[in-house]
Amino acid sequence: MKRMFFFALAASFLFAGASFADGPTMQEMMQKMGGPKPDDRVELKLPDTMKVMQKRMMRQHLNTVADITGAIASGDLSKASALAKDQLGWSPQEEQRCNMGGKMTGEQDFVGYGMAVHKTADELSAAAAAGDRDKSLALLSKLIKNCNACHEKFRH
Ligand code: HEC
Repeated sequence: MKRMFFFALAASFLFAGASFADGPTMQEMMQKMGGPKPDDRVELKLPDTMKVMQKRMMRQHLNTVADITGAIASGDLSKASALAKDQLGWSPQEEQRCNMGGKMTGEQDFVGYGMAVHKTADELSAAAAAGDRDKSLALLSKLIKNCNACHEKFRH
């Protein structure tokens, strides 16, 4: 058992050595990307349990974006429309969630970024309901850019 452990350890060193010898080192890769930089986004002051909850919701949002993309790709625009409206559209509940996020973090901008995502989801839903595939795709791109605008500004 002990011998096997050492064998595995030695093998992992060998592999690590081989893969680094073949390509650039981590340091070279980081230099190519402009070197290490500080994360200068605004840190949201939230309790850990809220962060876990928010991230879970975020992963669900990304999944919805994948489902909408899939529905458009397969030509099922009415499904894309329903997903955008039901999962990401602006609603009293969504308004409540975004307002709570704004209040808890003390960041008023937070609400605006959230609202932009949900209102674009409504636009996307309308375009898909009207059968306009190109406009739906353009709005899907706008939606994702709205997601990223908040990620550019805030972090946990
Ligand atoms: C109002 C701000 C805001 C909006 C809008 C927003 N996010 Fe986020 N998102 C965050 C924050 C804050 C984090 C946490 C980042 C960190 O960990 O530093 C996050 C993290 C994530 C993560 C990582 C989750 C994890 O498990 O680490 C995903 C995926 C994500 N968001 C997807 C989305 C998608 C998709 C949308 C749009 C449909 C979106 N987000 C819109 C604020 C936002």
